[in-house]
Amino acid sequence: MIKLHDKYFKPFLSEAQVLTAVKKVAEKIAKDYKDKTPIFVGVLNGAFMFVSDFLKEYQHPCEVSFVKLSSYSGLSSTGIVETLLDVPDNVEGRSIIILEDIIDTGRTLKELVHLFSNTNAKEFKIATLFHKPSIYNGEYVIDYVGMEIPDKFIVGYGLDYNEQGRNLKEIYQLKENHMINLVLFGKPGAGKGTQAEFLKEKYNLKHISTGDVFRYNIKNGTELGTLAKSYIDKGELVPDEVTISMLQDEVEKNPDAGGFIFDGFPRTTTQADALNTFLESKDMKIDATIALEANDEILIQRLLERGKVSGRSDDQDESKIRFRFDEYNEKTAPLKEYYTTQGKFHSVNGIGSIEEITERLSAVINSL
Ligand code: IMP
Ligand code: MG
Repeated sequence: MIKLHDKYFKPFLSEAQVLTAVKKVAEKIAKDYKDKTPIFVGVLNGAFMFVSDFLKEYQHPCEVSFVKLSSYSGLSSTGIVETLLDVPDNVEGRSIIILEDIIDTGRTLKELVHLFSNTNAKEFKIATLFHKPSIYNGEYVIDYVGMEIPDKFIVGYGLDYNEQGRNLKEIYQLKENHMINLVLFGKPGAGKGTQAEFLKEKYNLKHISTGDVFRYNIKNGTELGTLAKSYIDKGELVPDEVTISMLQDEVEKNPDAGGFIFDGFPRTTTQADALNTFLESKDMKIDATIALEANDEILIQRLLERGKVSGRSDDQDESKIRFRFDEYNEKTAPLKEYYTTQGKFHSVNGIGSIEEITERLSAVINSL
């Protein structure tokens, strides 16, 4: 996966696949024109690589020229096509073959046809390396097509996203809805909170700590908070549907988030299933669960230190800490298995400097 400006792109066609398509166009044109000395007119900027490799495959008499048009800005055609470099002036009585990198809506093509219709060229043909038939307006016949591709934005091999990516040898496809959703596990003291803060910043994630969400809803007397409190007051567990509804609110409140860090939920495989069902309904999924692992004795020392400073009573009593660890082990073991089966469980060494640990977590996330 690569990143250009603010977008992620995934591999789509290898260099070999691209060159096969180039060769295919060259062979088809050679069949029709090898005795006619056509003028190939490349459309700048996008077609420069195609023109170059095309000519290496087209070893027959020919001439080469370029025009330059511009219609694209960002990910979509602006609809306004500007001519920046006009038609060559020796086209009288000649066979013109346009070499386009890609024909998508066909707007640029219309402008090209218009440009050449004012000349006295003998004939005018269109060749394109890539073609997106599903959005093409179909106004003109495209005489030679290297490869038909789906209506997804691509970069590489001359094609750009805001001028970047032209130098890639392969073709990459825009990765839509690139979201990173994580579940973070870790024993008390493992540094979950600290690391969540860094990951939040680095990957534009929203940290959803279930405990915080509960406290917030109860404190503000929201409908769900009141409902949750009614169970808590009776000494009962809050049903998963109620918790999920709260998480749903959090997800919906953050439409611009690059993803979410779920912390404190799920705690059971039933909850993991419920979370999956909910995420699927939003066209989302858990990409990875990461457990920050650390040796119990080290964590106990950390917590006892923290307890001295914070005064938190549950951080000052070693037996209470050990009890929380046992509880954690018991609860996460089935989840560890659940996510391992799905190939989503990652264990990260939580001992080291904060930066070292952030690095380890980032390595996992970057590999997704
Ligand atoms: P059209 O005018 O919509 O057919 O678009 C043609 C021009 O838009 C091409 O010459 C490219 O410069 C650009 N373009 C269209 N689709 C893509 C794409 O998927 N990636 C990069 N540029 C594209
Ligand atoms: Mg172009």
